[in-house]
Amino acid sequence: MTPNSIHFAPAERIASIKPYFFASLNKKITDLKAKGVDVIRIDMGSPDLPPQDFIIDSLVESARRADTHGYTPNGGTPAFRKAIANYYMERFEVELDPQKETIGLIGSKEGLFNLSQVILNPGDVALVPDPGYPVYTAGAEIAGAEIVAMPLLKENGFLPDFNALPAEALSRAKLMWLNYPNNPTGAIASMKFFEEAVLFARQHHLLLAHDAPYTDVCFDHYHAPSLLQVPGAKEVAVEFNSLSKTYNMAGWRLGMAVGNAEVIEYLSTYKSQMDTSNFAPVFAAGVTALTSDQDWLEERNALYQERRDLVVNGLRAAGLSVDTPKAAIYVWAGLPAGENDSIRFCNRMLEETGVSTTPGIVYGKHGEGFLRVSLGTATERIAEAMQRIIHWTK
Ligand SMILES: Cc1ncc(COP(=O)(O)O)c(C=O)c1O
Repeated sequence: MTPNSIHFAPAERIASIKPYFFASLNKKITDLKAKGVDVIRIDMGSPDLPPQDFIIDSLVESARRADTHGYTPNGGTPAFRKAIANYYMERFEVELDPQKETIGLIGSKEGLFNLSQVILNPGDVALVPDPGYPVYTAGAEIAGAEIVAMPLLKENGFLPDFNALPAEALSRAKLMWLNYPNNPTGAIASMKFFEEAVLFARQHHLLLAHDAPYTDVCFDHYHAPSLLQVPGAKEVAVEFNSLSKTYNMAGWRLGMAVGNAEVIEYLSTYKSQMDTSNFAPVFAAGVTALTSDQDWLEERNALYQERRDLVVNGLRAAGLSVDTPKAAIYVWAGLPAGENDSIRFCNRMLEETGVSTTPGIVYGKHGEGFLRVSLGTATERIAEAMQRIIHWTK
């Protein structure tokens, strides 16, 4: 600001919003690197591996065509929406109407945020998992809604206890978020739990929003289900999915929402005012990713599994308490005995070892006492990070 700059106050709806945690972490890491520190980042859930060549080829071939550079239809090309429906049928035996029950997103984060804008009024309650992906809370806050946390406790397998929700909040609740396989805990949910969730949503007149970007990153022969496999789920639920983690396409910004037709229509109308869709070659590559042979994912998941084992064993050797996750790209670890401030612990670790992990508190108050390690970093670097942490805690 120059001395003559006029101060413009931010809109009230964003005044209390803080920058996303990773924006401030990036700055700290840039400073450390400038001082010559060899920083190993195992904090962010961004896959280090590229998509398969045939997916990249599809993007390039499409980009070379003269007719793929204009605007694309709101919510995705018809071919992309059909590919989403095809994927849901092949993978989960869930039938979707491509035009009415699917919508393409500019990464699923966009849709997660916008769902709150199209569903919540000031005074409504959003039921949000704690710990949880921060966008559920930020989206609801900006919509002026009240957030009621659903604690995810280790003793409950990091599943919310629906019966423990306060009756008054429940009577004003309009939206409930779930996310399995879970970020940050790596927990999974059974079909039985999904059936209970659908029943609960029906009984309490809630829209159930299931965020499912990790359904195809599973280990030990586990296959994560879709919430939409519950009969009648579409009557009360939408599910978000993403190409970011399944196909290593995080930077491409391509995701989807599927399920309840009315809610998909609200998102579509809102987005038609907000954005102008995505680049046609990105949609074309998305079609290729979703409709081609999915066998390559097994080998990719085996690599994540190898990294998972390295991290689980390494953190245990360093005195942290860890359960072995069956899915997602995270290991959620309880801090060593005597440590209970996750920001202080992770900061000290970063400064003294150069290893960057994510403090659990970033994901909510019930994340305190934990840290999260991401598996989206080269295996040798993860191994080196574990050696540094073990040495540091000795
Ligand atoms: C639970 C969860 N939902 C959504 C996203 C966002 O994914 P996308 O890249 O599709 O926006 C992430 C990314 O880390 C995530 O962990």
